[in-house]
Amino acid sequence: MKAILVKQPGGPEQLIVGDYEKPLPGPYELLVKVHATALNRADTLQRQGKYPPPKGASPLLGLEIAGMVEEAGFNCTKYQKGDKVFGLLSGGGYAEYAVINEEMAMPIPENLSFEEAAAIPEVFLTAWQALVWLGKLRHGERVLIHAGASGVGTAAIQLARALKAEVLVTASEGKLHACKELGAHKAINYKEVPFEDEVLAYTNSEGVDVILDFIAGPYFNQNLDCLRLDGRLVILASLGGGKVSEVDLRKILTKRLQVMGSTLRSRTKAYQQELTKDLSQIALPLFKEEKLKPVIDSVYSWEDVAEAHRYMEQNKNVGKIVLRVG
Ligand SMILES: NC(=O)c1ccc[n+]([C@@H]2O[C@H](COP(=O)([O-])OP(=O)(O)OC[C@H]3O[C@@H](n4cnc5c(N)ncnc54)[C@H](OP(=O)(O)O)[C@@H]3O)[C@@H](O)[C@H]2O)c1
Repeated sequence: MKAILVKQPGGPEQLIVGDYEKPLPGPYELLVKVHATALNRADTLQRQGKYPPPKGASPLLGLEIAGMVEEAGFNCTKYQKGDKVFGLLSGGGYAEYAVINEEMAMPIPENLSFEEAAAIPEVFLTAWQALVWLGKLRHGERVLIHAGASGVGTAAIQLARALKAEVLVTASEGKLHACKELGAHKAINYKEVPFEDEVLAYTNSEGVDVILDFIAGPYFNQNLDCLRLDGRLVILASLGGGKVSEVDLRKILTKRLQVMGSTLRSRTKAYQQELTKDLSQIALPLFKEEKLKPVIDSVYSWEDVAEAHRYMEQNKNVGKIVLRVG
């Protein structure tokens, strides 16, 4: 089969379409003819050799797919040849064929195209895990979502609104409007003003209950300042760096804060399957009713994958960058 290969660890120019062994479905696995996949930051890191795939995962890039079942492996009961499915992978999505455990596959709602479906799994599962499982966001609470226009951010805004929370986001200039269109009550241009001042001014100095953070080090102290009593900080990435020179831990103590970190790819299969089940039951009906939508910035042919990676690394996208496969 054809797949996108990394010639050697490095820049986007290392990505080429080449030949690779077609995978075989094992028990409980589906072989899927991939129609679309989508980019994640993890792909850019893996391309550079900085994020090796977990043990047992395909060494090919690609954490999510949408396509058609070509073959259902031994013991599969949920899907059959010809079904349209989408879902999260631990690797191998940048290819004509991929295998997915049938518990990780979700049926594509009829109103969504392959490109739209491919834009959902990673960011909606991540946002659901962070907001609901970890952040325990409840009806009527306030959440601050950093990088609100990122793939995960655009999913998180919609899910937080569906949970009836008040939503504040940070984003750069040209992306604020998109965040508001998706439902953010307050969008802060973090490049122009210190976000913590804006958060406290907007909330009458009360602060927020939950923060989803991708920046880490340079935001840590300000995040603590923005959290109210019993607040929860969920760190999902360290785009700004992983270190903090000084922290007053008494803020965590006196405000009874919880600081958490999480990754999705390294989670056990059972955890990922449970998360997929949870999201399918609650969010799939909302996609059908168009109360949730995949946010697609752009769709590239997979021959232009290098261009797509460059675009993501320039922080240009609002929402997801999708690759049409084949
Ligand atoms: N832990 C997990 O389970 C998990 C799962 C999925 C993704 N992630 C991580 O979450 C992050 C977001 O993923 P994504 O795919 O949604 O990303 P994305 O669509 O590529 O968006 C990232 C955005 O973050 C903002 N940004 C980048 N560097 C920044 C910095 N130093 N300071 C402030 N803002 C910065 C930029 O938006 P502005 O123009 O607004 O600055 C950029 O467009 C990535 O780091 C990814 O690896 C983690």
